[in-house]
Amino acid sequence: MSLLFTPLQLRSVTLPNRIAVSPMCQYSVTAEDGVPTDWHLVHLGSRAVGGAGLVIAEATAVEPRGRISAQDVGIWNDEQVEAWKRITRFIKEHGAIPGIQLAHAGRKAFGDWVPVAPTTEPFPGLNTPEKLESHAGIVKAFVEGALKAIEAGFEVLEIHAAHGYLLHEFYSPLTNEGSIEERIAVPVEVTAAVRAAVGSDVPVIVRISGTDWVDDGWTADDSVVLAQALKAAGADLIDVSSGGNTAQAEIPIGPGYQVPLAEAVRRKADVPTGAVGLITEAKQAEQVLLDGAADLVLLAREMLRDPYWPLRAAQELGVEVKAPRQYARAF
Ligand SMILES: Cc1cc2nc3c(=O)[nH]c(=O)nc-3n(C[C@H](O)[C@H](O)[C@H](O)COP(=O)(O)O)c2cc1C
Repeated sequence: MSLLFTPLQLRSVTLPNRIAVSPMCQYSVTAEDGVPTDWHLVHLGSRAVGGAGLVIAEATAVEPRGRISAQDVGIWNDEQVEAWKRITRFIKEHGAIPGIQLAHAGRKAFGDWVPVAPTTEPFPGLNTPEKLESHAGIVKAFVEGALKAIEAGFEVLEIHAAHGYLLHEFYSPLTNEGSIEERIAVPVEVTAAVRAAVGSDVPVIVRISGTDWVDDGWTADDSVVLAQALKAAGADLIDVSSGGNTAQAEIPIGPGYQVPLAEAVRRKADVPTGAVGLITEAKQAEQVLLDGAADLVLLAREMLRDPYWPLRAAQELGVEVKAPRQYARAF
């Protein structure tokens, strides 16, 4: 028995295992129209073929100025929806669940447009943002993006509220003013509005930065408060990453370095979590789940090195899984 290869139920969706491809920007849109390309089909499709239970498409902008770069994908128009359909269909044909990360870059956008943020303080080296006077348009953009994502065939939504992008900028004291309740209000409102719009069947994950890694920044304890509020707003799982909102952070990088953040959120906020960050070995991933630190593990760079990581992990853990029919002779 392996926990890693035990299905995970999230609302109406059953992930066939607890391995997710962590969202990774591919900066591969050449026409600057936010429409995913053949690269996205092959990149995400390969990882579905490789056996991941959940394949989460990269940070996908809910409005044009919410892209990190002009090479990013989007989910704000019908042309994008049509292009995503081919990709989600392929992922599903190979037994994986297609997920999408709904994103807004905030002040970390570096295209030739004016970025928006809760502050006019730029991220070092990037353009000066315009201060958002109202967040209503942002909530609306996330809701419309969520509905378009479902139309495009995605079965799991992840709201990107980490890494110094817009929703993180709202809750971090480095980029916003007010009490913690005031600062978490917008990410919580976005989550509640997305939940209300998509109904009770669709799993909604929220990725947060569990700490800013600086003394005057966001902390692990703050993350517990945020996670409780996100859960109450309808989030099903909190994907706990860290950092990204300051260039000053000193991050203690090493194997599983963010796992304790996921564990604290899971235990103290009583909400399922995802663990991410230098999880590269099958036994290590299994142990994260066995320890009760998380319910799902997300792998990013290791999945770039080896799209078949889940098939290899199954072999290492002595679990029999079905390789794609076309590749059966190799497994
Ligand atoms: C090429 C690349 C692109 C990334 N793009 C995103 C992204 O779009 N959204 C996000 O939340 N994290 C992004 N990340 C962070 C990863 O999802 C992951 O959290 C991080 O790489 C740590 O996991 P790892 O040690 O398994 O790589 C990206 C990482 C890489 C390497």
